[in-house]
Amino acid sequence: MSGGSGTTDFGPAAAEFPEPFRLLVREEVSSTNDELRALACAGAAHGLVLISHRQTAGRGRRGAAWFAGEGTALAFSVLLRPEEPPGLWPRLSLAAGVALAETLDHFRLAPGLKWPNDVWLNRKKAAGILLEGGDGFVIAGIGLNVNTIDFPPEIAEIATSMRISAGRLFDPAEVFAKLIARFAVNAAMIGNDFPQLLSALRERCVLTGERVSLRAANGLKTGKILGIGSHGELLFDCGGGVEPLVQADEVRIIS
Ligand code: BTN
Repeated sequence: MSGGSGTTDFGPAAAEFPEPFRLLVREEVSSTNDELRALACAGAAHGLVLISHRQTAGRGRRGAAWFAGEGTALAFSVLLRPEEPPGLWPRLSLAAGVALAETLDHFRLAPGLKWPNDVWLNRKKAAGILLEGGDGFVIAGIGLNVNTIDFPPEIAEIATSMRISAGRLFDPAEVFAKLIARFAVNAAMIGNDFPQLLSALRERCVLTGERVSLRAANGLKTGKILGIGSHGELLFDCGGGVEPLVQADEVRIIS
């Protein structure tokens, strides 16, 4: 185990991956999503997981940079070639969010899911998901702060880790193995089993019942979140009736 900032041996985690998931480990890449995309375009099969000890250009949603503490955070991507119709593939991001939350539950933490796919511990962000599509494939990029305690100043107020939340160290390889196992199950639930995935999401949704400000396609709005709809959309009431949002940015709880 790498408790602090040493190099983690991910071999034991890979040995526990369910079929057909398998692992590629890189010392350094620009972004695991980009590296895996190149492999996908070259024909890599469903279930390939690429993890890197270091990302030089890790990316978050909306083009933001993603910080992953070296030796203290997980930064990896999963290649999926789902059997379900492509219209359902965006649900994989919710599947990944629920997998992260279930993994944190397993380690006795108390995660919340901030729709669409931020994972919170104590109202701070511990993990994020970047889902990107390609021709016949999807890449789910996942970043999880495991033992990180030092964050860059620009995110120090809003970021957290499993270690900060629990006050103890975690074995990154053990966390990784659990996370892949959960994601494998949830990724298979975007079709007929989606209602069950939605229940797991709704149970942990930190936005339900809250007043929020958010940026929707038609501008900045303020209103109340009523919950998550049957397709995974956010049900938003800005005073003029319920608006189902499939995409919204800068969602902030107004306390
Ligand atoms: C977000 O919350 O903005 C999404 C963050 C996603 C970060 C992960 S780290 C592994 C993968 N590679 C990347 O460049 N990004 C994702």
